[in-house]
Amino acid sequence: MDSGDIVFDVGSDHALVPIYLVKENIAIKAYASDINVGPYNSALKNIKKHNLEGKVIALKSDGISNISEDVNSVVIAGMGGKLIVDILDQDKTKLEGIKSLILAPNIATNTVREWLMNNKFMIEKELIIEEDNKFYEVIKALRVKENVSYTEEELFFGPILLRSRNKTFIKKWQKKLNKKKKILDKIKNDKLDAYHMNLEEIKIIEKMLEG
Ligand SMILES: C[S@@+](CC[C@H](N)C(=O)[O-])C[C@H]1O[C@@H](n2cnc3c(N)ncnc32)[C@H](O)[C@@H]1O
Repeated sequence: MDSGDIVFDVGSDHALVPIYLVKENIAIKAYASDINVGPYNSALKNIKKHNLEGKVIALKSDGISNISEDVNSVVIAGMGGKLIVDILDQDKTKLEGIKSLILAPNIATNTVREWLMNNKFMIEKELIIEEDNKFYEVIKALRVKENVSYTEEELFFGPILLRSRNKTFIKKWQKKLNKKKKILDKIKNDKLDAYHMNLEEIKIIEKMLEG
């Protein structure tokens, strides 16, 4: 994100991200949008508490349906990858003025990367964070003119993370591998499809960790 950006945070419980971005001068203005009344009211309250009315604007709206023309960056965090993609697919015309997307899916990150590739967004940065024994990934993608292409491995692990292979990244996949191996035995006899999918993923993870 660049200072001067106008950001639209979808699913903005308490408006924490928009408040942070404006307070830190990372954005000049930000919208905190949520589909549910509870999070919307929490956002209103928090914006008032921080004296940021006018700079952080709370909206009760579904996905990207209320993005205004001044917005150039969209944040969607803390949801599954499938929901993030459904939201982005809601109305492509709403994304025409968007130059960057900051996405933090809690599952199905590969689905999000695939959407980015198919919609000409190039992954510029990827972060992996460990907190309370959980791993979080954040992807920043920029709109580009040319086609974008990632391999299956890059979609699965993340092109930038795969190149960096940092300690947190290796730890996450080592943990995931161990968990998948434990599950494998349990599903061997009754869930054949899941068994084969799990086995396939185990091979992909082992190959990456050996590489
Ligand atoms: C788990 S919270 C994540 C909050 C915050 N973004 C974070 O990362 O901590 C998900 C939020 O998304 C909202 N939400 C779910 N579907 C939505 C949609 N289609 N449009 C806008 N908000 C949505 C929920 O009401 C909820 O407040």
